[in-house]
Amino acid sequence: MCGIFGYSGKRQDGGKIVVEGLKNLEYRGYDSWGVACTTKAGITIRKDIGKISTVSSDDFSETCCLALAHTRWATHGGVTPANAHPHLSRDGTVAVVHNGIIENYAELKETLKTKGYTFVSQTDTEVIPYMIEEEMKSGKSFPDAFRNACLQFHGRYAILALHQASGMLIAARTGSPLIVGVGKDGYYIASDIPAFMEHTRTVQYLDDGEIVETDGKKITFRDIATGEERQKREIQITWTVEQAQKGDFAHFMLKEIMDQKESIARAANQDEEEIMTIAQAIRNAKGTFLVGCGTAHKACMAAEYFFSVVSGHHVNVCSAGEFKLYHHFLVPESLLIVVSQSGETADVLEAMNVAKSKGAKVLAIVNVEGSSVARAADYTLRINAGPERAVASTKAMTGQMSVMLLIAYALKNALHDGKTLLLETGALINDMLNPRYVERIATIAGNIKRHEHLYIIGKSWHYPMALESAIKIQEVSYMHAEGFAGSELKHGPIALIEPGTPCIALLGNDEVTSDMLNNATELKARGALLIGIAPKRHEIFDEWLKTPDAGAAQPIVTIIPIQILAYELAVQRGKDPDMPRNLAKSVTVK
Ligand code: G6P
Repeated sequence: MCGIFGYSGKRQDGGKIVVEGLKNLEYRGYDSWGVACTTKAGITIRKDIGKISTVSSDDFSETCCLALAHTRWATHGGVTPANAHPHLSRDGTVAVVHNGIIENYAELKETLKTKGYTFVSQTDTEVIPYMIEEEMKSGKSFPDAFRNACLQFHGRYAILALHQASGMLIAARTGSPLIVGVGKDGYYIASDIPAFMEHTRTVQYLDDGEIVETDGKKITFRDIATGEERQKREIQITWTVEQAQKGDFAHFMLKEIMDQKESIARAANQDEEEIMTIAQAIRNAKGTFLVGCGTAHKACMAAEYFFSVVSGHHVNVCSAGEFKLYHHFLVPESLLIVVSQSGETADVLEAMNVAKSKGAKVLAIVNVEGSSVARAADYTLRINAGPERAVASTKAMTGQMSVMLLIAYALKNALHDGKTLLLETGALINDMLNPRYVERIATIAGNIKRHEHLYIIGKSWHYPMALESAIKIQEVSYMHAEGFAGSELKHGPIALIEPGTPCIALLGNDEVTSDMLNNATELKARGALLIGIAPKRHEIFDEWLKTPDAGAAQPIVTIIPIQILAYELAVQRGKDPDMPRNLAKSVTVK
């Protein structure tokens, strides 16, 4: 989950480049940061706890053509300056940053201790520079020493290291993303494209089990196991710098909520032949499984209803982290559909491995082109949401639901109806996202922000939206929020309701509306402060947030006011919605 960025080339402002680029990776983790710059005098390391966004790149103005940087999401060892990366070799000539976990670090550490190494941090990372140093002591060049050290590490990781004397920057990937930016003035190596997007949009992807080496003038890819060279294609990425920036918005989360005025139409813009091929693959499959994590998992739960209601098709939905338990049911004719914004989530990649080990095919629905999930899948559909930077997923989720709704229509041989519905839904969302609507939600947030608990109920496809509402509110505002199926209230949760407890009822205009109204009435009878999110006002609502009637796309419009409410609750409670505590956007560890 950590952010990694390095530069090697002609430019002399390497320190500034990596600090500025690192700010664009902060969504990957932000408990501490660190930078290594090579100068004639040696390697200078600066690191601290806190966010890189508070650091000025002007403080890194020394002449430096080789630098690397890291923003951390702690796994091993607390959040302290000593545990922040980079970590240096004992002789001070090699600096290392790392993402992922070196699973056998404890064993390696014991061996290194017997060789006289003392450890200054509690991280697994610190073994890496020492292992490289040990290998170099036996006469190996830096690239050979780096590769030999990697051969001894177990686990899923991305490592980036620089060596002052040889002027080389080297990275290895086994499980955590690394991408090379090919610039006019040198090479950039990062865990995600936004780090170097303002310098170049020409990229080369590392695959698992590969190393990349550069002296700033040329670049070589190798197989970690054999050391053999590998050829790579250069790919032009389509995202623009502007898309990845906040513009005039106070936060990325708000910008991305507002992006939904257009992103639904972009999600609907799929190659018709491809969608029909996928629909056929689903028809042919002996069992279709739909998995994702967090918000993407809730999108999958909504899609289960889309497939059932729109096309009468059954799919099995589970959280990607639980998918291993389904392996008994997989046969080569099974189809796994994985949904992931980043395309790098460890549990999603593992689910794909489980399916592939049984010979099953995989369809990936992703946002990030060239991501690990996209490249490992048999079929890929992109949601075309553009970069999503806030940790809390908003436009990616509605994009994921849109693509799955489209597939449901394709299964019914009514793809054009699906497209039309989504384009109309995009227009409805455009109307919803007006300043008056946002203002109204801000007022409601103001009325409930001091409460400790908030409960959300929904039924049918609004049940997963109730669960998603709870995630959204918890993660950015730290208010305790829980979502329930309306029918489950009487089986326990209703005991939590006291006079004044804020509760939200999600309603559509469908066959479960009257049941849901009964459930909402039960809350009201216990004194709840009832907020209805619904196309129609009902007398039991204390507050009403109108949603348009969007037919089978109803869950997509229902979640919009909740996203704004979560954002407003965060801001009004003094929290940073873009960087919620303890979380990271891309979860590359299991
Ligand atoms: C993290 C993010 C969530 C996201 C989940 C799955 O928890 O904070 O917003 O839904 O990971 O991520 P993915 O990239 O696979 O969609």
